Amino acid sequence: MSGSAVRVPRRLLAPAAGWTVDADVIVVGSGIAGLTAALHLRRTGARVLIVTKDLLDAGSTRWAQGGIAAAVGPGDTPEEHMRDTLVAGAGLCDPEAVRALVTEGPGLVRELVEIGTAFDRDAQGDLVLTREGGHLRRRIAHAGGDATGLEIERALLVAVSADPGIEAIEHALVLDLLCGPAGQAAGVTLHVLGEGTRDGVGAARAPAVVLASGGMGQIYSSTTNPQVATGDGVALAMRAGAEATDLEFIQFHPTALWLGRASTGQQPLVSEAVRGEGATIVDGSGVRVMAGVHPLEDLAPRDVVAKAMARRMAEAGLDHLYLDARCLGAQFPRRFPTITASCLAAGIDPARELIPVAPAAHYASGGVRTDLRGRTSLPGLYACGEVACTGVHGANRLASNSLLEGLVFAARLAADLAAGLPPRVPPTPAREPAGLLEAPVRAELAATMSAGAGVLRSAESLAATAAELAELARRASADPCPETWSTTNLHTVASALVDAATRREETRGSHWREDFPALSPAWLGHIVSTVASDGGLDARFEAAGRREASLTGAARAPW
Ligand code: SIN
Repeated sequence: MSGSAVRVPRRLLAPAAGWTVDADVIVVGSGIAGLTAALHLRRTGARVLIVTKDLLDAGSTRWAQGGIAAAVGPGDTPEEHMRDTLVAGAGLCDPEAVRALVTEGPGLVRELVEIGTAFDRDAQGDLVLTREGGHLRRRIAHAGGDATGLEIERALLVAVSADPGIEAIEHALVLDLLCGPAGQAAGVTLHVLGEGTRDGVGAARAPAVVLASGGMGQIYSSTTNPQVATGDGVALAMRAGAEATDLEFIQFHPTALWLGRASTGQQPLVSEAVRGEGATIVDGSGVRVMAGVHPLEDLAPRDVVAKAMARRMAEAGLDHLYLDARCLGAQFPRRFPTITASCLAAGIDPARELIPVAPAAHYASGGVRTDLRGRTSLPGLYACGEVACTGVHGANRLASNSLLEGLVFAARLAADLAAGLPPRVPPTPAREPAGLLEAPVRAELAATMSAGAGVLRSAESLAATAAELAELARRASADPCPETWSTTNLHTVASALVDAATRREETRGSHWREDFPALSPAWLGHIVSTVASDGGLDARFEAAGRREASLTGAARAPW
Protein backbone atom coordinates (compact mmCIF):
# COMPACT_ATOMS: atom_id res chain seq x y z
CA MET A 1 0.00 0.00 0.00
CA SER A 2 1.50 3.36 -1.00
CA GLY A 3 1.17 6.62 0.92
CA SER A 4 -0.03 8.91 -1.89
CA ALA A 5 -3.63 10.18 -1.98
CA VAL A 6 -4.09 9.89 -5.71
CA ARG A 7 -4.80 6.55 -7.36
CA VAL A 8 -4.05 5.75 -11.01
CA PRO A 9 -5.26 2.72 -12.97
CA ARG A 10 -2.99 -0.32 -13.27
CA ARG A 11 -4.59 -1.05 -16.64
CA LEU A 12 -6.69 0.92 -19.11
CA LEU A 13 -10.30 -0.16 -19.42
CA ALA A 14 -10.63 -1.49 -22.98
CA PRO A 15 -12.50 -4.15 -24.95
CA ALA A 16 -10.75 -7.50 -25.45
CA ALA A 17 -8.32 -7.62 -28.37
CA GLY A 18 -10.12 -8.62 -31.56
CA TRP A 19 -7.07 -9.15 -33.79
CA THR A 20 -3.36 -9.90 -33.46
CA VAL A 21 -0.18 -9.12 -35.36
CA ASP A 22 3.33 -10.53 -34.75
CA ALA A 23 6.78 -8.99 -35.17
CA ASP A 24 10.31 -9.39 -33.81
CA VAL A 25 10.37 -5.89 -32.36
CA ILE A 26 7.55 -3.39 -31.88
CA VAL A 27 8.56 0.27 -32.00
CA VAL A 28 6.00 2.62 -30.48
CA GLY A 29 6.36 6.04 -32.08
CA SER A 30 7.71 7.46 -35.33
CA GLY A 31 9.87 10.47 -34.52
CA ILE A 32 13.66 10.57 -34.84
CA ALA A 33 14.13 7.98 -32.06
CA GLY A 34 11.55 5.46 -33.29
CA LEU A 35 12.54 5.66 -36.97
CA THR A 36 16.26 5.43 -36.14
CA ALA A 37 15.62 2.43 -33.89
CA ALA A 38 13.66 0.75 -36.71
CA LEU A 39 16.39 1.37 -39.30
CA HIS A 40 19.19 0.15 -37.02
CA LEU A 41 17.18 -2.91 -35.95
CA ARG A 42 16.82 -3.86 -39.61
CA ARG A 43 20.61 -4.24 -39.81
CA THR A 44 20.15 -7.33 -37.65
CA GLY A 45 17.42 -8.72 -39.92
CA ALA A 46 14.67 -8.24 -37.31
CA ARG A 47 11.10 -7.75 -38.58
CA VAL A 48 10.03 -4.39 -37.19
CA LEU A 49 6.51 -3.13 -36.59
CA ILE A 50 6.12 0.61 -36.00
CA VAL A 51 2.88 1.67 -34.34
CA THR A 52 2.18 5.38 -34.17
CA LYS A 53 -0.67 7.36 -32.68
CA ASP A 54 -1.44 9.60 -35.65
CA LEU A 55 0.23 9.91 -39.05
CA LEU A 56 3.88 8.84 -39.18
CA ASP A 57 5.14 12.44 -39.23
CA ALA A 58 2.74 13.93 -36.66
CA GLY A 59 4.95 13.71 -33.54
CA SER A 60 7.25 16.25 -31.92
CA THR A 61 10.29 15.75 -34.19
CA ARG A 62 8.78 17.68 -37.08
CA TRP A 63 8.33 20.73 -34.84
CA ALA A 64 11.99 20.91 -33.78
CA GLN A 65 13.31 24.19 -35.13
CA GLY A 66 16.72 25.18 -33.83
CA GLY A 67 18.56 22.07 -34.78
CA ILE A 68 20.73 19.22 -33.67
CA ALA A 69 23.78 19.83 -31.49
CA ALA A 70 26.98 17.89 -32.24
CA ALA A 71 30.70 18.61 -32.19
CA VAL A 72 31.06 18.69 -35.97
CA GLY A 73 32.42 22.22 -36.47
CA PRO A 74 36.06 23.23 -36.86
CA GLY A 75 37.79 23.39 -33.48
CA ASP A 76 34.87 21.92 -31.54
CA THR A 77 35.33 18.76 -29.51
CA PRO A 78 33.07 16.19 -27.80
CA GLU A 79 34.68 17.27 -24.51
CA GLU A 80 33.44 20.84 -24.95
CA HIS A 81 29.97 19.61 -25.85
CA MET A 82 30.07 17.39 -22.76
CA ARG A 83 31.09 20.28 -20.52
CA ASP A 84 28.16 22.44 -21.69
CA THR A 85 25.71 19.52 -21.30
CA LEU A 86 26.88 18.81 -17.73
CA VAL A 87 26.64 22.48 -16.74
CA ALA A 88 23.04 22.71 -18.01
CA GLY A 89 22.13 19.44 -16.24
CA ALA A 90 22.87 20.99 -12.80
CA GLY A 91 24.64 17.99 -11.27
CA LEU A 92 22.21 15.27 -12.32
CA CYS A 93 23.52 14.16 -15.73
CA ASP A 94 24.96 10.67 -15.92
CA PRO A 95 28.48 11.45 -17.23
CA GLU A 96 28.72 8.12 -19.07
CA ALA A 97 25.44 8.75 -20.88
CA VAL A 98 26.64 12.23 -21.83
CA ARG A 99 29.96 10.79 -23.03
CA ALA A 100 28.07 8.37 -25.27
CA LEU A 101 25.97 11.25 -26.60
CA VAL A 102 28.81 13.57 -27.50
CA THR A 103 31.21 10.95 -28.88
CA GLU A 104 28.75 8.81 -30.86
CA GLY A 105 26.53 11.73 -31.94
CA PRO A 106 28.72 13.21 -34.71
CA GLY A 107 28.91 9.88 -36.58
CA LEU A 108 25.14 9.46 -36.41
CA VAL A 109 24.61 13.01 -37.71
CA ARG A 110 26.83 12.02 -40.66
CA GLU A 111 24.54 8.99 -41.17
CA LEU A 112 21.61 11.39 -41.41
CA VAL A 113 23.47 13.24 -44.16
CA GLU A 114 24.14 9.92 -45.93
CA ILE A 115 20.42 9.10 -46.05
CA GLY A 116 19.71 12.49 -47.59
CA THR A 117 19.10 15.01 -44.80
CA ALA A 118 19.81 18.42 -46.32
CA PHE A 119 21.37 20.47 -43.54
CA ASP A 120 21.99 24.16 -44.28
CA ARG A 121 25.44 24.77 -45.78
CA ASP A 122 27.52 27.78 -46.75
CA ALA A 123 28.89 28.61 -50.19
CA GLN A 124 31.85 26.26 -49.57
CA GLY A 125 29.52 23.38 -48.74
CA ASP A 126 30.33 23.40 -45.01
CA LEU A 127 27.58 23.00 -42.41
CA VAL A 128 26.28 26.33 -41.11
CA LEU A 129 26.20 26.13 -37.30
CA THR A 130 24.24 28.30 -34.90
CA ARG A 131 24.25 28.84 -31.13
CA GLU A 132 21.57 28.32 -28.53
CA GLY A 133 21.30 28.77 -24.76
CA GLY A 134 24.03 27.10 -22.68
CA HIS A 135 26.35 26.36 -25.63
CA LEU A 136 29.66 28.19 -25.40
CA ARG A 137 30.18 27.89 -29.14
CA ARG A 138 28.28 27.48 -32.41
CA ARG A 139 27.56 23.74 -32.75
CA ILE A 140 23.96 23.42 -33.85
CA ALA A 141 23.31 22.16 -37.35
CA HIS A 142 19.99 23.18 -38.89
CA ALA A 143 17.94 22.63 -42.01
CA GLY A 144 15.53 24.84 -43.92
CA GLY A 145 16.59 27.68 -41.60
CA ASP A 146 14.29 26.72 -38.73
CA ALA A 147 12.71 23.49 -40.03
CA THR A 148 15.36 21.03 -38.87
CA GLY A 149 13.07 18.37 -37.41
CA LEU A 150 10.83 18.41 -40.46
CA GLU A 151 13.78 17.72 -42.78
CA ILE A 152 15.24 14.96 -40.58
CA GLU A 153 11.82 13.32 -40.29
CA ARG A 154 11.39 13.49 -44.08
CA ALA A 155 14.73 11.82 -44.75
CA LEU A 156 14.14 9.09 -42.15
CA LEU A 157 10.67 8.34 -43.50
CA VAL A 158 12.05 7.95 -47.02
CA ALA A 159 14.55 5.39 -45.70
CA VAL A 160 11.94 3.56 -43.61
CA SER A 161 9.39 3.36 -46.42
CA ALA A 162 12.04 1.84 -48.73
CA ASP A 163 12.57 -1.08 -46.33
CA PRO A 164 10.09 -3.94 -46.79
CA GLY A 165 11.12 -5.37 -43.41
CA ILE A 166 9.47 -2.45 -41.59
CA GLU A 167 5.69 -2.36 -41.32
CA ALA A 168 3.92 0.71 -39.96
CA ILE A 169 0.45 1.07 -38.51
CA GLU A 170 -0.82 4.65 -38.23
CA HIS A 171 -3.65 5.93 -36.00
CA ALA A 172 -2.59 3.28 -33.49
CA LEU A 173 -2.76 4.28 -29.82
CA VAL A 174 -0.93 1.84 -27.54
CA LEU A 175 -2.90 0.93 -24.45
CA ASP A 176 -0.99 -1.48 -22.21
CA LEU A 177 2.06 -3.68 -22.20
CA LEU A 178 1.46 -7.39 -22.68
CA CYS A 179 3.62 -9.30 -20.22
CA GLY A 180 4.92 -12.86 -20.02
CA PRO A 181 4.88 -15.03 -16.90
CA ALA A 182 8.00 -13.38 -15.44
CA GLY A 183 6.77 -9.85 -16.16
CA GLN A 184 8.82 -9.57 -19.35
CA ALA A 185 7.52 -7.63 -22.37
CA ALA A 186 5.51 -9.74 -24.79
CA GLY A 187 3.91 -6.99 -26.90
CA VAL A 188 1.28 -4.30 -26.51
CA THR A 189 -2.44 -3.89 -26.75
CA LEU A 190 -3.42 -1.06 -29.05
CA HIS A 191 -6.39 0.64 -30.61
CA VAL A 192 -6.34 1.28 -34.33
CA LEU A 193 -8.65 3.65 -36.11
CA GLY A 194 -8.37 1.58 -39.24
CA GLU A 195 -10.20 -0.48 -41.75
CA GLY A 196 -10.67 -4.18 -42.40
CA THR A 197 -9.10 -6.70 -40.09
CA ARG A 198 -6.95 -4.27 -38.08
CA ASP A 199 -9.62 -2.05 -36.64
CA GLY A 200 -10.45 -1.44 -32.98
CA VAL A 201 -8.50 -2.98 -30.11
CA GLY A 202 -5.88 -5.56 -31.05
CA ALA A 203 -2.72 -7.20 -29.75
CA ALA A 204 0.74 -6.71 -31.29
CA ARG A 205 3.07 -9.43 -30.05
CA ALA A 206 6.87 -9.41 -30.00
CA PRO A 207 9.65 -10.38 -27.58
CA ALA A 208 10.96 -6.80 -27.50
CA VAL A 209 9.06 -3.50 -27.29
CA VAL A 210 10.74 -0.13 -27.86
CA LEU A 211 8.97 2.92 -26.49
CA ALA A 212 9.77 5.98 -28.61
CA SER A 213 6.45 7.71 -28.10
CA GLY A 214 7.66 11.22 -27.27
CA GLY A 215 6.77 13.63 -24.51
CA MET A 216 3.98 14.81 -22.24
CA GLY A 217 3.72 18.58 -22.86
CA GLN A 218 -0.06 18.39 -23.13
CA ILE A 219 -0.30 18.04 -19.34
CA TYR A 220 0.03 21.85 -19.36
CA SER A 221 -2.38 24.32 -20.86
CA SER A 222 0.36 25.99 -22.89
CA THR A 223 3.01 23.90 -24.61
CA THR A 224 5.11 23.77 -27.74
CA ASN A 225 4.26 20.05 -28.07
CA PRO A 226 1.70 18.73 -30.56
CA GLN A 227 -1.69 17.37 -29.52
CA VAL A 228 -0.38 13.77 -29.50
CA ALA A 229 2.16 14.42 -26.70
CA THR A 230 0.07 12.97 -23.86
CA GLY A 231 2.69 10.93 -21.98
CA ASP A 232 1.33 7.61 -23.30
CA GLY A 233 4.67 5.78 -23.12
CA VAL A 234 5.53 6.83 -19.56
CA ALA A 235 2.00 5.99 -18.38
CA LEU A 236 2.05 2.57 -20.10
CA ALA A 237 5.45 1.73 -18.65
CA MET A 238 4.52 2.80 -15.13
CA ARG A 239 1.26 0.83 -15.23
CA ALA A 240 3.32 -2.23 -16.20
CA GLY A 241 5.60 -1.69 -13.19
CA ALA A 242 8.57 0.06 -14.85
CA GLU A 243 10.52 2.79 -13.12
CA ALA A 244 10.33 6.41 -14.23
CA THR A 245 12.74 9.06 -13.01
CA ASP A 246 13.43 12.81 -12.99
CA LEU A 247 9.77 13.50 -13.81
CA GLU A 248 9.84 16.82 -11.94
CA PHE A 249 12.26 18.29 -14.48
CA ILE A 250 9.96 19.71 -17.13
CA GLN A 251 11.70 22.22 -19.31
CA PHE A 252 9.80 25.39 -20.18
CA HIS A 253 10.90 27.01 -23.42
CA PRO A 254 11.33 30.73 -22.76
CA THR A 255 9.92 31.91 -26.06
CA ALA A 256 6.68 30.42 -27.27
CA LEU A 257 4.75 32.93 -29.37
CA TRP A 258 2.16 34.51 -27.06
CA LEU A 259 -1.22 34.45 -28.78
CA GLY A 260 -3.38 35.76 -25.95
CA ARG A 261 -4.74 34.43 -22.65
CA ALA A 262 -7.39 32.29 -24.31
CA SER A 263 -4.88 30.38 -26.45
CA THR A 264 -4.32 26.86 -25.07
CA GLY A 265 -2.68 23.66 -26.33
CA GLN A 266 0.19 23.78 -28.81
CA GLN A 267 1.70 27.26 -29.20
CA PRO A 268 4.13 28.20 -32.01
CA LEU A 269 7.79 27.99 -30.99
CA VAL A 270 10.16 30.90 -31.51
CA SER A 271 13.50 29.13 -31.61
CA GLU A 272 16.29 29.92 -29.22
CA ALA A 273 18.40 30.22 -32.36
CA VAL A 274 16.77 33.64 -32.86
CA ARG A 275 18.58 34.72 -29.71
CA GLY A 276 21.63 32.83 -31.00
CA GLU A 277 21.60 35.27 -33.93
CA GLY A 278 21.38 38.33 -31.66
CA ALA A 279 17.77 38.86 -30.50
CA THR A 280 17.10 39.83 -26.86
CA ILE A 281 14.20 39.46 -24.42
CA VAL A 282 12.72 42.78 -23.30
CA ASP A 283 9.73 44.00 -21.32
CA GLY A 284 7.10 46.39 -22.65
CA SER A 285 9.36 49.37 -21.91
CA GLY A 286 12.24 47.88 -23.86
CA VAL A 287 14.25 46.98 -20.72
CA ARG A 288 16.37 43.86 -21.24
CA VAL A 289 15.31 41.01 -18.95
CA MET A 290 18.52 38.94 -19.00
CA ALA A 291 21.06 41.77 -18.57
CA GLY A 292 22.99 41.13 -15.34
CA VAL A 293 21.14 37.86 -14.58
CA HIS A 294 23.74 35.46 -16.03
CA PRO A 295 27.08 35.90 -17.80
CA LEU A 296 25.58 34.43 -20.99
CA GLU A 297 22.60 36.83 -20.73
CA ASP A 298 19.98 35.85 -23.34
CA LEU A 299 21.91 32.68 -24.15
CA ALA A 300 21.98 31.43 -20.57
CA PRO A 301 20.70 27.87 -20.09
CA ARG A 302 17.00 27.63 -20.79
CA ASP A 303 15.90 27.16 -17.17
CA VAL A 304 17.70 30.36 -16.17
CA VAL A 305 16.00 32.38 -18.90
CA ALA A 306 12.52 30.91 -18.27
CA LYS A 307 12.84 31.56 -14.53
CA ALA A 308 14.02 35.15 -15.03
CA MET A 309 11.10 35.76 -17.38
CA ALA A 310 8.58 34.16 -15.01
CA ARG A 311 9.92 36.25 -12.15
CA ARG A 312 9.69 39.49 -14.14
CA MET A 313 6.18 38.61 -15.35
CA ALA A 314 5.00 37.75 -11.81
CA GLU A 315 6.48 40.94 -10.31
CA ALA A 316 4.93 43.19 -12.93
CA GLY A 317 1.65 41.29 -13.32
CA LEU A 318 2.35 40.60 -17.01
CA ASP A 319 1.27 37.60 -19.04
CA HIS A 320 3.98 37.99 -21.66
CA LEU A 321 7.24 39.72 -22.55
CA TYR A 322 8.81 40.40 -25.94
CA LEU A 323 11.59 39.16 -28.14
CA ASP A 324 13.34 41.96 -29.96
CA ALA A 325 14.75 40.52 -33.17
CA ARG A 326 14.68 43.74 -35.16
CA CYS A 327 18.49 43.66 -35.37
CA LEU A 328 18.06 40.85 -37.94
CA GLY A 329 15.87 43.03 -40.18
CA ALA A 330 15.35 41.66 -43.69
CA GLN A 331 17.53 38.66 -42.86
CA PHE A 332 14.84 37.33 -40.46
CA PRO A 333 12.42 35.78 -42.98
CA ARG A 334 15.28 34.08 -44.85
CA ARG A 335 16.88 32.62 -41.74
CA PHE A 336 13.63 31.78 -39.91
CA PRO A 337 10.88 31.11 -42.47
CA THR A 338 8.74 28.93 -40.15
CA ILE A 339 8.77 31.49 -37.33
CA THR A 340 8.10 34.28 -39.81
CA ALA A 341 4.99 32.44 -41.03
CA SER A 342 3.72 31.92 -37.45
CA CYS A 343 4.31 35.58 -36.59
CA LEU A 344 2.67 36.89 -39.77
CA ALA A 345 -0.35 34.64 -39.10
CA ALA A 346 -0.62 36.38 -35.71
CA GLY A 347 -0.33 39.81 -37.34
CA ILE A 348 3.29 40.50 -36.30
CA ASP A 349 6.13 41.38 -38.64
CA PRO A 350 9.15 39.96 -36.74
CA ALA A 351 11.66 41.94 -38.81
CA ARG A 352 10.12 45.24 -37.71
CA GLU A 353 8.06 44.59 -34.57
CA LEU A 354 8.59 43.11 -31.11
CA ILE A 355 7.45 39.48 -30.89
CA PRO A 356 5.21 38.74 -27.88
CA VAL A 357 6.53 35.66 -26.06
CA ALA A 358 5.96 33.66 -22.86
CA PRO A 359 7.43 30.43 -21.46
CA ALA A 360 5.56 27.23 -22.36
CA ALA A 361 6.08 23.56 -21.44
CA HIS A 362 8.56 22.19 -23.95
CA TYR A 363 10.44 19.05 -22.96
CA ALA A 364 10.38 16.31 -20.33
CA SER A 365 13.98 15.78 -19.22
CA GLY A 366 12.83 12.74 -17.21
CA GLY A 367 10.88 9.71 -18.31
CA VAL A 368 11.08 5.92 -18.33
CA ARG A 369 14.36 5.05 -16.69
CA THR A 370 16.88 3.27 -18.92
CA ASP A 371 20.45 2.13 -18.73
CA LEU A 372 23.06 3.04 -21.34
CA ARG A 373 21.69 0.36 -23.68
CA GLY A 374 18.13 1.67 -23.59
CA ARG A 375 16.90 -1.13 -21.33
CA THR A 376 14.18 -0.23 -18.84
CA SER A 377 13.68 -1.99 -15.51
CA LEU A 378 11.35 -4.52 -17.24
CA PRO A 379 13.00 -7.26 -19.36
CA GLY A 380 12.34 -6.80 -23.07
CA LEU A 381 11.04 -3.22 -22.66
CA TYR A 382 13.30 -0.54 -24.12
CA ALA A 383 12.89 3.24 -24.37
CA CYS A 384 14.58 6.04 -26.33
CA GLY A 385 13.91 9.67 -27.19
CA GLU A 386 11.85 12.00 -25.03
CA VAL A 387 9.86 9.18 -23.39
CA ALA A 388 13.10 7.87 -21.89
CA CYS A 389 15.34 9.12 -19.13
CA THR A 390 18.78 7.95 -20.26
CA GLY A 391 20.64 10.23 -17.85
CA VAL A 392 21.79 12.62 -20.58
CA HIS A 393 19.75 15.66 -19.57
CA GLY A 394 19.96 15.70 -15.78
CA ALA A 395 17.88 18.49 -14.28
CA ASN A 396 17.76 20.53 -17.48
CA ARG A 397 18.33 19.52 -21.10
CA LEU A 398 20.87 21.51 -23.07
CA ALA A 399 19.27 23.07 -26.15
CA SER A 400 19.22 20.90 -29.29
CA ASN A 401 20.50 17.81 -27.46
CA SER A 402 17.17 15.99 -27.82
CA LEU A 403 17.34 15.07 -31.50
CA LEU A 404 20.90 13.86 -30.91
CA GLU A 405 19.84 11.80 -27.88
CA GLY A 406 17.09 10.19 -29.97
CA LEU A 407 19.68 9.13 -32.55
CA VAL A 408 22.35 7.89 -30.15
CA PHE A 409 20.21 5.85 -27.79
CA ALA A 410 18.05 4.38 -30.56
CA ALA A 411 21.27 3.10 -32.15
CA ARG A 412 22.46 1.81 -28.77
CA LEU A 413 19.34 -0.19 -28.00
CA ALA A 414 19.36 -1.65 -31.51
CA ALA A 415 22.96 -2.76 -30.89
CA ASP A 416 21.85 -4.40 -27.64
CA LEU A 417 19.05 -6.28 -29.42
CA ALA A 418 21.46 -7.27 -32.19
CA ALA A 419 23.19 -9.48 -29.64
CA GLY A 420 19.99 -11.55 -29.56
CA LEU A 421 16.27 -10.99 -29.13
CA PRO A 422 14.76 -12.05 -25.79
CA PRO A 423 12.86 -15.38 -25.93
CA ARG A 424 9.35 -15.06 -27.33
CA VAL A 425 6.79 -15.84 -24.59
CA PRO A 426 2.98 -15.96 -24.71
CA PRO A 427 1.34 -13.06 -22.88
CA THR A 428 -0.37 -13.96 -19.63
CA PRO A 429 -3.92 -12.65 -19.09
CA ALA A 430 -3.94 -9.27 -17.34
CA ARG A 431 -5.51 -9.38 -13.88
CA GLU A 432 -4.91 -5.83 -12.65
CA PRO A 433 -8.06 -3.76 -12.07
CA ALA A 434 -8.79 -1.53 -15.07
CA GLY A 435 -9.78 2.13 -14.92
CA LEU A 436 -10.47 5.15 -17.09
CA LEU A 437 -11.12 8.87 -16.58
CA GLU A 438 -13.71 10.87 -18.45
CA ALA A 439 -12.43 13.02 -21.35
CA PRO A 440 -13.43 16.51 -20.04
CA VAL A 441 -10.93 16.00 -17.20
CA ARG A 442 -8.21 16.89 -19.73
CA ALA A 443 -8.80 20.66 -19.80
CA GLU A 444 -9.12 20.89 -16.01
CA LEU A 445 -5.97 18.84 -15.55
CA ALA A 446 -3.95 21.11 -17.86
CA ALA A 447 -5.24 24.24 -16.11
CA THR A 448 -4.39 22.96 -12.63
CA MET A 449 -0.93 21.76 -13.75
CA SER A 450 -0.10 25.17 -15.25
CA ALA A 451 -1.36 26.97 -12.15
CA GLY A 452 0.42 24.84 -9.54
CA ALA A 453 3.19 22.76 -11.12
CA GLY A 454 4.51 25.04 -13.86
CA VAL A 455 7.67 27.16 -14.01
CA LEU A 456 7.13 28.32 -10.41
CA ARG A 457 6.19 25.79 -7.72
CA SER A 458 5.78 25.69 -3.94
CA ALA A 459 4.54 23.19 -1.37
CA GLU A 460 1.26 25.09 -1.30
CA SER A 461 0.74 25.20 -5.07
CA LEU A 462 1.75 21.55 -5.47
CA ALA A 463 -0.57 20.43 -2.64
CA ALA A 464 -3.48 22.23 -4.32
CA THR A 465 -2.61 20.56 -7.64
CA ALA A 466 -2.30 17.13 -6.03
CA ALA A 467 -5.69 17.56 -4.34
CA GLU A 468 -7.26 18.54 -7.65
CA LEU A 469 -5.67 15.54 -9.41
CA ALA A 470 -7.01 13.23 -6.67
CA GLU A 471 -10.45 14.76 -7.19
CA LEU A 472 -10.26 14.32 -10.98
CA ALA A 473 -9.33 10.64 -10.46
CA ARG A 474 -12.81 10.10 -9.02
CA ARG A 475 -14.41 11.06 -12.35
CA ALA A 476 -14.41 7.56 -13.82
CA SER A 477 -15.66 6.81 -17.31
CA ALA A 478 -17.02 3.60 -18.80
CA ASP A 479 -16.45 4.77 -22.34
CA PRO A 480 -13.16 3.39 -23.71
CA CYS A 481 -12.09 5.59 -26.65
CA PRO A 482 -8.93 7.48 -27.70
CA GLU A 483 -9.99 10.61 -25.75
CA THR A 484 -10.55 8.79 -22.45
CA TRP A 485 -7.38 6.68 -22.86
CA SER A 486 -5.22 9.75 -23.58
CA THR A 487 -6.81 11.68 -20.71
CA THR A 488 -6.10 8.82 -18.31
CA ASN A 489 -2.47 8.73 -19.47
CA LEU A 490 -2.16 12.49 -18.94
CA HIS A 491 -3.54 12.10 -15.43
CA THR A 492 -1.10 9.29 -14.57
CA VAL A 493 2.00 11.19 -15.66
CA ALA A 494 0.79 14.48 -14.13
CA SER A 495 0.19 12.74 -10.80
CA ALA A 496 3.64 11.15 -10.79
CA LEU A 497 5.24 14.47 -11.75
CA VAL A 498 3.48 16.37 -8.96
CA ASP A 499 4.45 13.66 -6.46
CA ALA A 500 8.13 13.99 -7.45
CA ALA A 501 8.00 17.80 -7.54
CA THR A 502 6.48 17.85 -4.04
CA ARG A 503 9.21 15.62 -2.67
CA ARG A 504 12.13 17.59 -4.17
CA GLU A 505 12.51 20.41 -1.66
CA GLU A 506 15.15 22.43 -3.46
CA THR A 507 15.56 24.45 -6.65
CA ARG A 508 17.61 22.71 -9.31
CA GLY A 509 17.64 22.98 -13.11
CA SER A 510 14.13 23.32 -14.47
CA HIS A 511 12.53 22.52 -11.08
CA TRP A 512 12.02 25.81 -9.26
CA ARG A 513 10.57 25.76 -5.74
CA GLU A 514 9.74 29.24 -4.50
CA ASP A 515 9.74 27.89 -0.91
CA PHE A 516 13.17 26.22 -1.34
CA PRO A 517 15.00 28.68 -3.60
CA ALA A 518 18.49 27.17 -3.19
CA LEU A 519 20.18 24.10 -4.59
CA SER A 520 20.82 21.55 -1.81
CA PRO A 521 23.60 18.91 -1.74
CA ALA A 522 21.17 16.56 0.06
CA TRP A 523 19.17 16.41 -3.15
CA LEU A 524 22.02 15.47 -5.49
CA GLY A 525 20.20 12.43 -6.81
CA HIS A 526 17.14 11.14 -8.57
CA ILE A 527 13.58 10.47 -7.51
CA VAL A 528 12.62 7.11 -9.00
CA SER A 529 8.83 6.80 -9.30
CA THR A 530 6.68 3.67 -9.60
CA VAL A 531 3.01 2.79 -9.43
CA ALA A 532 2.19 0.54 -6.46
CA SER A 533 -0.13 -2.47 -6.69
CA ASP A 534 -3.02 -0.40 -5.28
CA GLY A 535 -2.50 2.33 -7.91
CA GLY A 536 -0.82 4.72 -5.46
CA LEU A 537 2.51 6.36 -6.28
CA ASP A 538 5.74 5.17 -4.71
CA ALA A 539 9.15 6.82 -4.89
CA ARG A 540 12.68 6.12 -3.79
CA PHE A 541 15.78 8.28 -3.87
CA GLU A 542 18.91 7.29 -5.72
CA ALA A 543 22.19 9.16 -5.33
CA ALA A 544 23.53 10.72 -8.56
CA GLY A 545 25.90 8.54 -10.55
CA ARG A 546 24.47 5.19 -9.44
CA ARG A 547 22.39 4.45 -12.55
CA GLU A 548 24.61 1.75 -14.02
CA ALA A 549 25.79 0.46 -10.66
CA SER A 550 22.33 -0.38 -9.38
CA LEU A 551 18.86 -0.54 -10.76
CA THR A 552 17.47 -1.41 -7.36
CA GLY A 553 19.57 0.03 -4.54
CA ALA A 554 18.02 3.03 -2.77
CA ALA A 555 19.98 5.76 -1.03
CA ARG A 556 18.61 7.42 2.12
CA ALA A 557 15.77 9.61 0.90
CA PRO A 558 15.85 13.26 1.97
CA TRP A 559 12.08 13.16 2.59
C1 SIN B 1 14.60 25.75 -30.21
O1 SIN B 1 14.77 25.78 -31.41
O2 SIN B 1 14.66 26.73 -29.48
C2 SIN B 1 14.28 24.44 -29.57
C3 SIN B 1 15.45 23.57 -29.61
C4 SIN B 1 15.37 22.57 -28.53
O3 SIN B 1 14.38 22.48 -27.82
O4 SIN B 1 16.36 21.86 -28.33
